Amino acid sequence: MNNRIELQHPLAAHHLSILRDIDTPPHLFRSQVQLLAMLLAVEATADLALVDVHVKTPICPMVGKRLLQRVAIVPILRAGLGLVDPIFQLLPGAEVWHLGMYRDEATARPVEYYCKLPVDQPADVGMVLDPMLATGGSIRMAITALKRWGVKDIRVLSVIASEQGIQTLHAEFPDAKVFVAAVDPELNEHKFIVPGLGDAGDRMFNTQRS
Ligand code: PRP
Repeated sequence: MNNRIELQHPLAAHHLSILRDIDTPPHLFRSQVQLLAMLLAVEATADLALVDVHVKTPICPMVGKRLLQRVAIVPILRAGLGLVDPIFQLLPGAEVWHLGMYRDEATARPVEYYCKLPVDQPADVGMVLDPMLATGGSIRMAITALKRWGVKDIRVLSVIASEQGIQTLHAEFPDAKVFVAAVDPELNEHKFIVPGLGDAGDRMFNTQRS
């Protein structure tokens, strides 16, 4: 089962290169993230279930389609926020549940500071959003929270993953489908993705400190 889906679209490669560029300013960085989120969402929703609905066009009645499943969009704060809008537009009936996490700078391990997922009536599909999958620790914590809620179909939408992070994640959660625009070869000594794009949250929200 191949649960690693890497975008092959030329638009993804084009917009990702702009995103990676150190000279790309925050406003352009944000719009590039949104474009890539849309491309990821198209791929990650390709097999969603449909049900027939009756539609009356101005010409005649017909049988159309409506999305059947309950989808939960789960951005990891902060940087995951940047992917929400385009996906919410494509899935206006989805639910959005925020997870707050930051990576401890000394240990590179995720620290959870906000989680109010419900405890019952799980969504049919959970989409975890985070532009970066470095060690995979943050997304691992998010998947664990979704599983605790009872979500069976978990999909991760990430702009860049490291090879190590994606392998570690799939060793623990082989069923989680991971959609990425690129898989980069390594992590540096600070557990940043190489070549990567730097700190996505800081670049997105203009909070970089030199
Ligand atoms: C970054 C990034 C991911 C996480 C990835 O967040 O946005 O959430 O680190 O690293 P991991 O795969 O090794 O867990 P950061 O801790 O910088 O928080 P922020 O989004 O608030 O800036």
